Amino acid sequence: MPRTELVLVWGEGLCDNIVGHTLVCQKDSMKKDLLTINDLNLSEINEIFRLAGELKEKRHTFGEPLKGKTLGLIFEKPSNRTRVSFEVGITELGGHAIYLGSYEIDLGKRESPKDVAKVLSRYLNGIIARTFSHKTVVELAKYSSIPVINGLTDYQHPCQALSDLFTIKEKKGMEGITVAFIGDGNNVLNSLLYICHKTGIKIHAACPKGYEPGKDILKDTAGSASMFSSPADAVKGADVIYTDVWTSMGQEKEYRKRLKVFKKYQVNSELVKLANKEAIVMHCLPAHRGREITDEVMDSAASIVMDQAENRLHVQKAILIKLLK
Ligand code: CP
Ligand code: NVA
Repeated sequence: MPRTELVLVWGEGLCDNIVGHTLVCQKDSMKKDLLTINDLNLSEINEIFRLAGELKEKRHTFGEPLKGKTLGLIFEKPSNRTRVSFEVGITELGGHAIYLGSYEIDLGKRESPKDVAKVLSRYLNGIIARTFSHKTVVELAKYSSIPVINGLTDYQHPCQALSDLFTIKEKKGMEGITVAFIGDGNNVLNSLLYICHKTGIKIHAACPKGYEPGKDILKDTAGSASMFSSPADAVKGADVIYTDVWTSMGQEKEYRKRLKVFKKYQVNSELVKLANKEAIVMHCLPAHRGREITDEVMDSAASIVMDQAENRLHVQKAILIKLLK
């Protein structure tokens, strides 16, 4: 049988061998993933902020630019904000979401990320993935012909950082702002470090020894990021105080050890008093009240955590329009 070679510029899903013919395909050149903050340049970040502002202002009158689009949400871990804001967001933009929790897909056990990505690319217009290992979202993106958006991994939480910076811009502007992060040098801090570096915001981080962000991240963000061993030193001159849980999802076995290690890294009223007057307090949530943040601070006038949570919706709608439309 003669062999025919076709070159298609299309999604990778079409790159199968058909008996007697080889289809040689290239990835869809229009596909763009959001796996880390480094997938966006400064002008793309600013455009997301501009669009998010417009979407917030015209929440129910913006129209339905994603009408007919379907988003799949692959979640290996629990979620309140990320899941609900993406589901509501796509619905408000005229599309539809399908939640694929660990029991539905059982990623990597029932089926490989590669096969899941290839199959879902035939049905969906985009994937939000919350996975334990960052490698899994990289693998999903590699084999999908549709955009893959990181909804939190052990390495980064880019959608969180984008909406956090949008919130800071809304509350304080961006000129001459210093953010102080107190707590664990994990996914949330990693993304914050990168976005502060890209947007020219100074960030102080106080993390216990052994719980700092990776050396490569600190090297990449040198110039905007400074490490402090004491939370009191980190919040001096800060306009924003930010914290995250001491024990992240997937680290539950370390809970008792972490309680001891992080004890002095609590955001409480005494610490807030050491920051700039009018400093605001942020938390990605869920908050473990009485541990990384006290009730008093969480419920104080300085706390903007609920506005911060709301903005996940507006910013993610902007991300969806930019990547799916
Ligand atoms: N901040 C955040 O991502 O919250 P969820 O884990 O509830 O989605
Ligand atoms: N660092 C936390 C963030 C939760 C939004 C976690 O990974 O569980």
